[in-house]
Amino acid sequence: MMMFQQSVDTRQGLHHILLIAALIGFVQDLSSGGGAHAWSYDFNIIPNRRWLEARQWCQKHFTDMVPIRNQEESDFLNNSLPFNAKYYWIGISKREGEWVWKETDEKVPEDAQKWAPEEPDTIAAQDCVEIYIKRDKDTAKWNNENCRKRKGTVCYTASCKPESCSANADCVETVGNYTCQCHPGFLGSRCEETIACKRLLDPEQASSNCSRPYGSNRFNSSCRFLCDLGFRMVGESPLLCQASGLWTHPVPLCQVEQCSVLNHSSIKNCSHPIAPYSFKSVCEVRCDEGYEHLGPDQIRCHYNGQWTSIVQDCTVKRCPPAFFPVSGNVTCVDAVEPFSFGSRCNFTCQEGYYLTRDDAYTCLASGQWSNPTPTCTVVQCNSLKAPPHASMQCQDPGVNSYGSICSVLCEEGFDLIGGNMTKCSAQGNWSHALPVCQAKRCNPINPPHGSLSCSDPNGLFSFGSLCKTTCDEGFLLNGTNSTECTSQGVWSADIPQCLAKRCPTLSSPSHGFIVCSVPHEEFSFTSQCRSTCDEGFLLNGTADNECTSLGTWSTEIPYCLAKRCPTLSSSSHGSLICSDPHEKFSFTSRCTSTCEEGFLLNGMADTECTSSGMWSTELPHCLARPCPLLDKAPHHGRMNCSHPYSSFSYDSSCDFECNEGFWLRGTPNMTCNTSGHWSQDLPTCQPLECEAIPALFGSLSMNCSHPLGNFSFGSQCIFACEGRDSPCMALSCCSAPPLGFGTTAGQTAQRICQCGLPCCCLQVLE
Ligand SMILES: *[C@@H]1O[C@H](CO)[C@@H](O)[C@H](O)[C@H]1NC(C)=O
Ligand SMILES: *[C@@H]1O[C@H](CO)[C@@H](O)[C@H](O)[C@H]1NC(C)=O
Ligand SMILES: *[C@@H]1O[C@H](CO)[C@@H](O)[C@H](O)[C@H]1NC(C)=O
Ligand SMILES: *[C@@H]1O[C@H](CO)[C@@H](O)[C@H](O)[C@H]1NC(C)=O
Ligand SMILES: *[C@@H]1O[C@H](CO)[C@@H](O)[C@H](O)[C@H]1NC(C)=O
Ligand SMILES: *[C@@H]1O[C@H](CO)[C@@H](O)[C@H](O)[C@H]1NC(C)=O
Ligand SMILES: *[C@@H]1O[C@H](CO)[C@@H](O)[C@H](O)[C@H]1NC(C)=O
Ligand SMILES: *[C@@H]1O[C@H](CO)[C@@H](O)[C@H](O)[C@H]1NC(C)=O
Ligand SMILES: *[C@@H]1O[C@H](CO)[C@@H](O)[C@H](O)[C@H]1NC(C)=O
Ligand SMILES: *[C@@H]1O[C@H](CO)[C@@H](O)[C@H](O)[C@H]1NC(C)=O
Ligand SMILES: *[C@@H]1O[C@H](CO)[C@@H](O)[C@H](O)[C@H]1NC(C)=O
Ligand SMILES: *[C@@H]1O[C@H](CO)[C@@H](O)[C@H](O)[C@H]1NC(C)=O
Repeated sequence: MMMFQQSVDTRQGLHHILLIAALIGFVQDLSSGGGAHAWSYDFNIIPNRRWLEARQWCQKHFTDMVPIRNQEESDFLNNSLPFNAKYYWIGISKREGEWVWKETDEKVPEDAQKWAPEEPDTIAAQDCVEIYIKRDKDTAKWNNENCRKRKGTVCYTASCKPESCSANADCVETVGNYTCQCHPGFLGSRCEETIACKRLLDPEQASSNCSRPYGSNRFNSSCRFLCDLGFRMVGESPLLCQASGLWTHPVPLCQVEQCSVLNHSSIKNCSHPIAPYSFKSVCEVRCDEGYEHLGPDQIRCHYNGQWTSIVQDCTVKRCPPAFFPVSGNVTCVDAVEPFSFGSRCNFTCQEGYYLTRDDAYTCLASGQWSNPTPTCTVVQCNSLKAPPHASMQCQDPGVNSYGSICSVLCEEGFDLIGGNMTKCSAQGNWSHALPVCQAKRCNPINPPHGSLSCSDPNGLFSFGSLCKTTCDEGFLLNGTNSTECTSQGVWSADIPQCLAKRCPTLSSPSHGFIVCSVPHEEFSFTSQCRSTCDEGFLLNGTADNECTSLGTWSTEIPYCLAKRCPTLSSSSHGSLICSDPHEKFSFTSRCTSTCEEGFLLNGMADTECTSSGMWSTELPHCLARPCPLLDKAPHHGRMNCSHPYSSFSYDSSCDFECNEGFWLRGTPNMTCNTSGHWSQDLPTCQPLECEAIPALFGSLSMNCSHPLGNFSFGSQCIFACEGRDSPCMALSCCSAPPLGFGTTAGQTAQRICQCGLPCCCLQVLE
């Protein structure tokens, strides 16, 4: 086994010495092929060997191949060994996939593996490890290689010998030497001394048993303690002297066994030879008067910390529980506990009960009551008798006793007046007076318009009463004539009614109404009815009517007749159409007048017969339709008109004539037609025209006047002939004879020619 010490400062110097020494050693080895001297490491590179050969060589000449266990060893070798181009094998190879230190077969921990980068590779058969000593790159790092390759050999020599250290140490290899590493509990250069603990003092009330493998109170000494009877150990046992020189625990104590502290009322006198309420303590157990306890009169604390028996408190003496009396109650005041020594009880009875004995009732020290238990007796009421027309029933806890309830039930047809129940009170009184049974009453009856005769065995209109009814004259009985008051207080039959006799129902006359008085019922005996007609109608008959006691009316029903208006006849040239809702020319009749063609109505066409019997308007007339008035005859003419109906109206006709010298232009007659127009336009009178006289010649002159038109009727031309030289001729304006006239000189002849006149007239002027 090879190890480096951790104290590096002291190792530094040593390394230098070793380095120099090793180089010497190595020089020797280079020539001699190795040899173990005082040095720990040796190497051999001539020849380079296979891994297995290298190891065998190391084992033969030294201890083993260097295993490289730590950085210090690695540094040391890198510094110490010369460069070898094949590098050096180290004591690590592969076993079952793991890298192990071959010498001890230990696994190389992960953090102790100093592989060069990319190593170890997985190439087959590279199962051995070399170290790159003084390589340019990855110096002192590892590489796996084929074990058959040849490389430098580095060996080491172990320094430890069996006698180097005592049996209580491990011999640890250092670089070039060894140290003794003491097992815990030992010291000294060879670890031959044993560590001592403090001497133990024996505890009181205890014994001890110690084992001493390396002497009294030395490392690995062990002491066991045992407490005396009645004492309890506090602390640990056994104690062991540890490698630190300290006992595992302090020395234990022995404490006396403690019984429970007694504070019971029954504990009186205690003695405590060792400690209060502890092993060997003794107590007396005793109680006061009226109290008792269970168990023995003395107790002791046992060596196991238990009292010889369980201690009970003093309990009060008990009397038998006080009975609740029947129908009563008991209230007690207890000195200590219910129904125990000193308890005093008072008995009370329920309402309606009284106590028979009233003595003191106390629980004595002997556990007995001072008196026997009292009892409660029920209160009584006096006896009852049922009232008349009634039955009585009682519910009795005891006959007529407190709590008895008696109820009264009346016979049929009788009402109970008062409470139907009475109760016997706690004071011995009945709560209510007994009720009275009164016959049921029916409603009093008094039929109007009739008389009643009744028999009343149980009072007026009461259960059993029988009444008969008779009606007055003019009235009839509706229902049964006798009724009885039943046990339910209602009449056996409906109360009879005297109803007025009925007359036949009247209905209002058409166009009228009736108003009736209803003294009893409508249209019944003594009803009076008055008929009235609507406006425009007149009553025919008697207005008033009355229903008699026989049920008939005094008179017939009247009628209402529509009022008449005067009879109308149609006017000349007209016709009349009438509607008559009631009668001809009567109230609400309407008449409409119409005229023949060419005639016009001069008024309202419609008229109506009013409620007063008069027509609303007068009947209108038919007048001939007028044409425009012809006030003047045509100029220079005459007019002659005839008017069959009215002047210048329908059917008028006019004839026209013109004066002499005029001719008529248009129609000589015209007529007024049905639509009020003249059949023609008005004609005119035109003057007759003459032949125009042409211009004259010679000494004939002409001077014309034309009052009505050129050369027309009324025109006059004067011709003059100045006959100085020769006779002049003048043309005639007349047709025949065609004349000329002549004058002599100086003579003036004048001729007047007038148009329209039969002939020319000639006037000779001188
Ligand atoms: C290994 O040794 C070489 C040569 O002595 C040195 O240069 C290098 O620093 C060393 N490397 C280590 C890691 O000690
Ligand atoms: C090796 O160690 C032992 C015990 O620690 C010591 O007595 C001895 O002198 C050491 N030897 C060397 C060479 O340092
Ligand atoms: C002490 O203990 C040992 C081992 O438990 C036992 O054999 C021995 O009898 C004991 N001694 C006494 C005095 O109890
Ligand atoms: C110390 O005692 C324990 C248990 O009794 C035991 O297992 C152990 O071997 C002892 N140690 C030594 C160094 O005797
Ligand atoms: C007696 O002691 C118990 C427990 O110690 C306690 O609960 C109880 O109240 C005590 N009684 C009296 C009367 O002191
Ligand atoms: C007895 O009297 C007590 C106290 O007045 C009361 O609470 C209880 O109800 C009564 N019991 C009866 C049966 O009357
Ligand atoms: C018993 O009754 C009497 C009289 O009514 C009263 O003075 C007394 O205090 C009562 N006692 C109890 C224990 O109720
Ligand atoms: C007594 O009268 C009450 C109410 O007034 C009624 O409920 C009860 O039935 C009556 N009892 C009898 C026996 O008539
Ligand atoms: C007579 O009485 C019966 C029953 O009340 C009734 O229906 C009927 O109309 C009555 N008759 C008359 C004429 O009132
Ligand atoms: C009552 O009516 C019955 C029959 O309905 C008749 O026999 C009897 O005479 C009537 N009595 C009187 C007093 O009218
Ligand atoms: C009234 O009626 C009677 C009988 O119906 C009849 O004879 C009489 O003419 C009528 N009187 C009038 C004014 O109509
Ligand atoms: C009206 O004159 C025409 C001719 O102009 C004539 O035929 C007709 O008989 C005349 N009528 C009367 C009523 O004179």
